[in-house]
Amino acid sequence: MKVKEYTHILVDYNEGVTVITINRPSKLNALNIETIKELHKAFKRAEKHKETKAIIVTGSGDKAFVAGADISEFADFSISQGERLASEGQALLFDFVAYLSTPVIAAINGFALGGGLELAMAAHFRIASDNAKMGLPEVSLGVIPGYGGTQRLPQLIGKGRAMELIMTASMIDAQQALQMGLVNYVTTQEELLPLAHKLADKIKRNSSVAIAAAIEAINAGFDVSENGFDAEITAFGKCFGTADFVEGTQAFLEKRKPNFPGK
Ligand code: COA
Repeated sequence: MKVKEYTHILVDYNEGVTVITINRPSKLNALNIETIKELHKAFKRAEKHKETKAIIVTGSGDKAFVAGADISEFADFSISQGERLASEGQALLFDFVAYLSTPVIAAINGFALGGGLELAMAAHFRIASDNAKMGLPEVSLGVIPGYGGTQRLPQLIGKGRAMELIMTASMIDAQQALQMGLVNYVTTQEELLPLAHKLADKIKRNSSVAIAAAIEAINAGFDVSENGFDAEITAFGKCFGTADFVEGTQAFLEKRKPNFPGK
């Protein structure tokens, strides 16, 4: 089922999985404000859509996932406009995605630079095609990553490597990203979406409420205002009040596959 009301993105739902494709190939899928707003809407809808058990985000064409925030939109911004750009972007898209309770897989099909890598890093995990190139080149433009990149890159690959990548504005290829743990798998371009669907299908078999609790607990560990271990205890306890837990444990004891109600 395709949703037709967007200009810069494509949204397609099929068998429990919503695929969101950023679709500005002539601009290498650069994120302008309108695209960020459309992505916010699409992710929000997918999260509310009970049948969606996993979300895949990717870029259209064979060249780019997203080549960054749209430089033409902010080149003449003032200090306060710059600050607002980052805070609104983080709230609408990057933090929004990171804190979704529906799992988000980024399928990086080419350049993931600046805001593009930041979007991929906000997703819950990443896979890449073998032509992918990743980096945070903002200092080459006289600015720094503003959509969470200075925080999420060190969380994913370690402080020293993140410092180097950000300071040198270098790009790494898919194999280097794999070695650093920035992406979980590398495959050919043709196999990228099939692999994303295979992973989504595995996710779909499990309890969506338990997965939501796990995302919450994992995210809490990276939030300085929270104690991750305490958040895990609370989220763990909450699972005991769910129908999925009753079904999951009963199915195990009855030696059958669970049929999770998702509540
Ligand atoms: N913002 C706005 N437009 C962008 C863009 C971005 N981040 N990245 C690419 N584009 C546009 C180009 O301006 C060009 O548009 P045009 O055809 O109207 O001139 C089009 O996308 C194709 O890009 P082009 O640079 O011609 O492709 P390339 O293959 O020569 O180079 C890149 C590819 C990714 C190396 C290069 O586009 C690039 O360096 N982009 C910016 C990356 C960046 O700094 N991102 C961080 C932003 S904070």
